[in-house]
Amino acid sequence: MEFIDLKAQQNLIREKIEDNIKKVLDHGKYIMGPEVFELEEKLSNYVGIKHAISCSSGTDALLMSLMAYDIGPGDYVITTPFTFISTAEVVALLGAKPVFIDIDENTYNISPQKIREFLNNPVDPANGKEINHKNIKGIIAVDIFGLPADYEKINNIAKEYNMFVIEDAAQSFGAEFKGRKACSLSDIGCTSFFPSKPLGCYGDGGMIFTDNDDLAEILRSIRVHGKGKDKYDNIRPGINGRLDTIQAAILLAKFEIFPEEIEKRQEVAQRYSEALSEKFYLQEIPEGYKSARALYSIRPKKNNRGYYLNLLKENNIPSAIYYPKPLHLQKAFAYLGYRQGYLVVSEECSENIFSIPFCPYIDKTVQYHVLRCLLNDKSL
Ligand SMILES: Cc1ncc(COP(=O)(O)O)c(C=O)c1O
Repeated sequence: MEFIDLKAQQNLIREKIEDNIKKVLDHGKYIMGPEVFELEEKLSNYVGIKHAISCSSGTDALLMSLMAYDIGPGDYVITTPFTFISTAEVVALLGAKPVFIDIDENTYNISPQKIREFLNNPVDPANGKEINHKNIKGIIAVDIFGLPADYEKINNIAKEYNMFVIEDAAQSFGAEFKGRKACSLSDIGCTSFFPSKPLGCYGDGGMIFTDNDDLAEILRSIRVHGKGKDKYDNIRPGINGRLDTIQAAILLAKFEIFPEEIEKRQEVAQRYSEALSEKFYLQEIPEGYKSARALYSIRPKKNNRGYYLNLLKENNIPSAIYYPKPLHLQKAFAYLGYRQGYLVVSEECSENIFSIPFCPYIDKTVQYHVLRCLLNDKSL
């Protein structure tokens, strides 16, 4: 059994993927070939956003977005500690400081109420000094496990304080909030095409979405070493942030069945949720939201994760922990001055949560095997 079965999807569309790769080998435009622009157009239509700027990874999508906002030393960017390292790493890489705000205990996404509480009294935990509001430049919210954060409230707070909002939609491509697609829910949406993501390629890749023409122009420049009119006219520091043509070709093949897969993910999740809600806390999907269901994560009500992880292991069922340590307790961020007990919801979540095998193509018998094991119910 696989934790995420990528082979099942490949078996379905292998021929189309091979055809698309072959076309790239034939035309030989490996860098910024026609497939890159075709993918950008298709995904910008799907998300309903004017500009789709493909790039080298979800991490680079976030980095480039912060660079476009000129983030640097002296700046603070608010984010969640319950996420993959990339989300905050990019802030630190640019010399700015991440400010970690705790999550909502039901959705596991950053709590707008706690953002507001911080902004009412913004203190730097490293030195206890008050932070000047003008240095708090923006918020990176994460759509954890595929569920969009509460952008209505987050965008309102950001507007009040003149901050930008970046949606880290690495896990939520295909999700929706009140009929609008993930990646379209704030100033900039960033996604990842890492192989295990809802829309994944066979390497690294990402995309940035924005309706803002000026930002889009800057992002396209940053993507190619800060180019101006042409490649050897460099008007700002940038990076090598392009998406490979071969990855774009693979994504085009996968995108054809992507909307169908998002629906399949809902069915698989529904089957798990119905069976597991008694013994486990499930991630709440509030009304008006549709999760991309990148990962299916549960928390035992008896706080006995170790027992379940052992049980799964004994039955040869793979599992994973996202995330075993919240970012504010990672050594990489020790200099920020956070301590155990500062962000208790994230800490408790990290101590008790785990994820079980999930993919749109998981066989029902496999799913029932997982459930039988977790519920110790042989009738399933
Ligand atoms: C929430 C989140 N942000 C950012 C990233 C980074 O994406 P990538 O691996 O494509 O750089 C990931 C990927 O794991 C992620 O889960």
